[in-house]
Amino acid sequence: MDHFELKNGVLHAEDVPLTAIAEAVGTPVYVYSRATLTRHARVFRDALAKLPRIHIAFAVKSNPNLAVLKLLAQEGYGADVVSEGEMNRALAAGIAAGDIVFSGVGKTRGELASAVRAGIGQFNLESEEEGVELAEIAAAQGRRATCALRVNPNVDARTHAKISTGKSENKFGVPYDRAAAIYARLAALPGLEMRGLAVHIGSQIGDLEPSREAFVKMGELMRELRGQGLAVTHMDLGGGLGVPYKAGEQLPTPDDYGALVAEVAKDWDATLMFEPGRVITGNSGVLVTEVVRVKQGAVHPWVVVDAAMNDLARPAMYDAWHDFAAVRPSGERMVANIVGPICESSDTFAMAREIDAVKPGDLAVFRTAGAYGATMANTYNSRALVPEVMVDGSRWAVVAERIDPATILAAERVPDFLERP
Ligand code: LLP
Repeated sequence: MDHFELKNGVLHAEDVPLTAIAEAVGTPVYVYSRATLTRHARVFRDALAKLPRIHIAFAVKSNPNLAVLKLLAQEGYGADVVSEGEMNRALAAGIAAGDIVFSGVGKTRGELASAVRAGIGQFNLESEEEGVELAEIAAAQGRRATCALRVNPNVDARTHAKISTGKSENKFGVPYDRAAAIYARLAALPGLEMRGLAVHIGSQIGDLEPSREAFVKMGELMRELRGQGLAVTHMDLGGGLGVPYKAGEQLPTPDDYGALVAEVAKDWDATLMFEPGRVITGNSGVLVTEVVRVKQGAVHPWVVVDAAMNDLARPAMYDAWHDFAAVRPSGERMVANIVGPICESSDTFAMAREIDAVKPGDLAVFRTAGAYGATMANTYNSRALVPEVMVDGSRWAVVAERIDPATILAAERVPDFLERP
C-alpha cells in the first residue's frame, strides 16, 4: 500500500498534488512519501515482532537519501552499509555506529580502518583474506572487530541474474563447504570477535522457497560450528524481499517472510539480523516526469519523456517494469513505447505498453521508484543529477537538490598542455 493516489483527478503524494512539486522543482524529480516509508518500516518490523531477538539494518544502498535515513533511524532501524560513504551517511542521520553492519565484497583497507575507528557494530566478512586484513587493522588500533562470516549457500534465488547473489558462480561470500574451516581460523585471530554468520541470496525475491533452503543450510552450519565449540550468537539473514511493480502483482508479504523465519529459526537461540532495502523504500517513491514529445512510430507512437536511463536505470539494466501513469489522467488510453532522450536504445522504459493517453507537456510518473532509483542516477549525456522531494501530509521539502550540468562542468579542468600546445 502506498500514498500516491488520485484526488480530484490529480495524482497526489499524500495531500500534495504532484503538479505543485513539478511546477516548483521542475522535472524529472523523485518524490517520496513519508507516510508510506513509515508504514513499510513498521509493517516489516511488526512481521518479525514475535521473534525473540532481532536487529534490523536498513540496506542504505536502496535509498541513501539523508532524510530517508533520518526517518528510518527514528523508527529504530540500524543500517547495512557497503562503503565508507554509506557509513558516513548513516552516522550523519543519527544511526548509532553499533547499529551499523558493514557489508560488501571489496571493503578497502582504508574503509576497514575508518569503520573500526568509528566502532561499527558488525563487519560481514566476504572472505578469509578480508578477515585476516581486518584482524591486523583492528589489532593495530588496539581493538577487536565484531564480525559475521558471509556464506554463499549455492542456492538460486530465482530472480534476475544480475541481482542474484547466492549461487557459487556469484562473487559473494565464502563457499558453504569451506565456511566452517574459515570461521574457525578467523575466530582464532586476536583482532576479531567472530559472532555469527550472514547470508543474502538476492534481491526482488518473489518466491520464498530458495530463502527457506538457504536459511535451513545456514542453521545446519551454525549447529556444526557450535558443535566445534565456536560461538555463533548472531545470524544475519540479509534482505531481498521483493515488492510488486505491476498493479495487482502478488508477492510474498513481510508476514509470510516473518512466518518462514520463525519456523526455520525456532530452535536457533540466536539474534536474528535483517537487511531489508527495497521492501521499505520501493513503493515509497515515484519518479515524476514530463512528456517532451509524442513521435510517430512504425507500429506504436514513441512517448518521449524528460526522465531517462540516467535518472532511473532499472529498466535499462534489468529489463525492469515500472508502472507509468498520467498525473492528470483523461480516462483515455493509448498503446505506446515510452523512452527517454538519451542517445542509445537501452533508454527505453516500456515497449508496446497500454498506458494513460498522454500528450506533450503532460506530467506522468514511474511508480515504485523509491528503491534503486535516485541512488543509481548518473549524469550521462551531461544531464543533471535528479533531485528528490519528501512529502509529509500537506508539507513537502526538497531533500536532494538538482545538481546541474554546470556544477559538474565546473569540477573539470583543461590541463596546461592543452591550453598551450
Ligand atoms: N544485503 C545485501 C548484502 C545486499 O547485497 C542487498 C542488495 C541487500 C541487503 C538489500 O536487498 P533488498 O532488500 O533491497 O532486495 N540495483 C538492483 C538491486 C541490487 C541489490 C543489491 N544488494 C535493482 O535495482 O533491482
